Formats: sequence, C-alpha cells, structure tokens
Amino acid sequence: MCKLMDAEQFPSLARLTEAILAVWPQHRRYLQSNFAERDTDMLRHSERLTAMILRLADSTEGGLPALATDYRFLCEKIILPEEMHFRRTNAYRLTRFDDALEQVYSRKEFMTRYMNGLLVSDVIWLNHCRCMKHYADTFLPGLPEGASLLEIGPGHGLLLCLAAERPGIGEITAWDVSEASLDASRHSLEVLEAKRTASFRQVDIFDRSQRRENDLFDAIVLSEVLEHLEDPAAALSALFDLTRPGGRVWINVPANSPAPDHLFLLRNADEATALVRNAGFEVVESVVYPMSGVTLERAKREALTVNCVVVGRRPAH
Ligand SMILES: C[S@@+](CC[C@H](N)C(=O)[O-])C[C@H]1O[C@@H](n2cnc3c(N)ncnc32)[C@H](O)[C@@H]1O
Repeated sequence: MCKLMDAEQFPSLARLTEAILAVWPQHRRYLQSNFAERDTDMLRHSERLTAMILRLADSTEGGLPALATDYRFLCEKIILPEEMHFRRTNAYRLTRFDDALEQVYSRKEFMTRYMNGLLVSDVIWLNHCRCMKHYADTFLPGLPEGASLLEIGPGHGLLLCLAAERPGIGEITAWDVSEASLDASRHSLEVLEAKRTASFRQVDIFDRSQRRENDLFDAIVLSEVLEHLEDPAAALSALFDLTRPGGRVWINVPANSPAPDHLFLLRNADEATALVRNAGFEVVESVVYPMSGVTLERAKREALTVNCVVVGRRPAH
C-alpha cells in the first residue's frame, strides 16, 4: 500500500497518518482527500503542529498507537452518534452543565480518550487545523511587543505552547476551571520544552470573586470554550472586563458542531460576530473555516460544522 505522506518532506505527518491507518485502514480515502485540500503553506503548518502532537503522544501511556485508536473512537463512537442526534432534532443533546458533568466530565477514562482524540483532530480536521494556523500566523504576530496574554480554558495547551515560542509575547497566563486541564497544559509546556512557562491559576470565568485587581491583559484567547457553556454572553462580558483598553481577544467557536459536552448551539458565523460585538468589542476580523471536504456554501446550506474565529478589540476609551 503506498504511503499517504512523503516521509522525507513531512516526517511527522507521515508517522501520524501511518499510525491512524494502522488502526483504521478505512480512513485512507478521507485522509487522502483531506490532505489534497492543503497547499504547501498549510502542509508546513500541519507538519509543525503534528511534530508537537507526536512529542505529546510519546509522553503518554500507550504512545501514538493509543492516540490513533482514540482518534478513531472520537470519530465513530463519540461524534457520530451526536451528529445523528443533531440531524434528527436540529439541537444538541445536552443544554445543562450539570448533565455534561455527569455524563462526560466525571468519566475519567472516557475523558482521556476524548481528549486524546481531539488532540489528533487539531491537525487532521481542517477546520481545527486552520484555526490554529490563524492563531499562530496572524493573531500572535499582530500583537504589540511585550503584550501580556491570558488563555482561558487551555486544555491540551497547544495554543499556550505556540505563544511561548514567540519572543515578542510578554507574560503568559492560563486559567481553567479544571485542575486536570491545568495539569495537562503544564505537562505540554514541559514536554515540548517551551522557551518560557506560564502562570497557571484555577479560575471559573463566571466567578468574579476569584479575580484579582490587576487581572488585566493585552490579549485574551478563548478557543473551543464558548460552546461548552450555558451562558456564553456572560463569559464574553467577563472577557471584556479582563481586556485592557485597546487590547485584543481571539475567539474560536464552532457552529453546528455536535459533541457530548457542547451545550450552546451557535448556528452561523454572524451569530458569533454578534456575540462578540454585544459584549462591547469592536470586531477586527471574522473568519470561517468549514469542516474538511465541504465548501462554505454547502456548510451554510446543510448546517454543517464550521469554526468561527473572531478577533475583537476593546475600544481604547
Ligand atoms: C474543549 S477545551 C478547549 C481546549 C483548547 N483551548 C482548544 O482550543 O482545543 C475547553 C476548556 O474550557 C475549560 N472551561 C470550561 N468551563 C470553564 C469556565 N467556566 N471557566 C474556565 N474554564 C472553563 C475546560 O475545563 C476545558 O479545559
């Protein structure tokens, strides 16, 4: 069977795709057309991201084969049933955080597999991969020298690691409501030998009593978090209070993206932009990345998954 990726040019991508095909040979056609959609620049970005993911895989129990198996589990056993429910009902299955806590977050083994699968999806699913590219190649380089950066809900920590690699970024801070997520992000920075570390704090974005007087940042990152919340507007309002006047936010939220812990159903990119604007931000940029193999027009027509990236700016006065 011929190799999917050129191992000399893209060694990490070749290793990852081979590991996936070893546990899921039927995924070949999807992977082939998925990578055919990427130009050289996108392939270079994918290779860089995959190199990070492989180092993380090598540091986890079961290594890359386990990660590849969990990616298949994510696609077939976690997302597909939710997708079928969404197609039947035009709604997400859950809307309350307490239900997500009981059915998803409290199941340790399920969560590990879910998170492993999502880590792989960050490079394989084009919508995820393009968001990461926008963050690394457009948002971070556009920040002023020395900008302090807060990420809320860093999860796997890849975005924190990318920020830590950029010399122009100032202090880096990470907040998450979950101690396990903070541990995972800390672990990623260590394994990837990030040039700098971040200061980590357990904070619930909704709990104002956990904030300190000097909690004000030049840049705030909120990626794949809003859809997990019951009240995304309140979260964005908190974000506004935490952004220094003139500072920027990078928000990545998927629309029409059923998952067992997604509570807030965003229907399209206009709704994402409106949410950010209604919180008080000026919208500097808004981009939409449809799922692999799908045009934006088709995604709109059929309510398929798109990721919406919105860059907002808190007015200077
Ligand atoms: C799906 S992960 C996002 C990971 C990563 N940012 C990404 O782009 O893939 C969502 C994260 O948001 C965190 N989170 C959820 N609700 C939160 C809240 N109220 N305050 C702070 N963090 C929260 C979760 O613990 C989790 O780490």
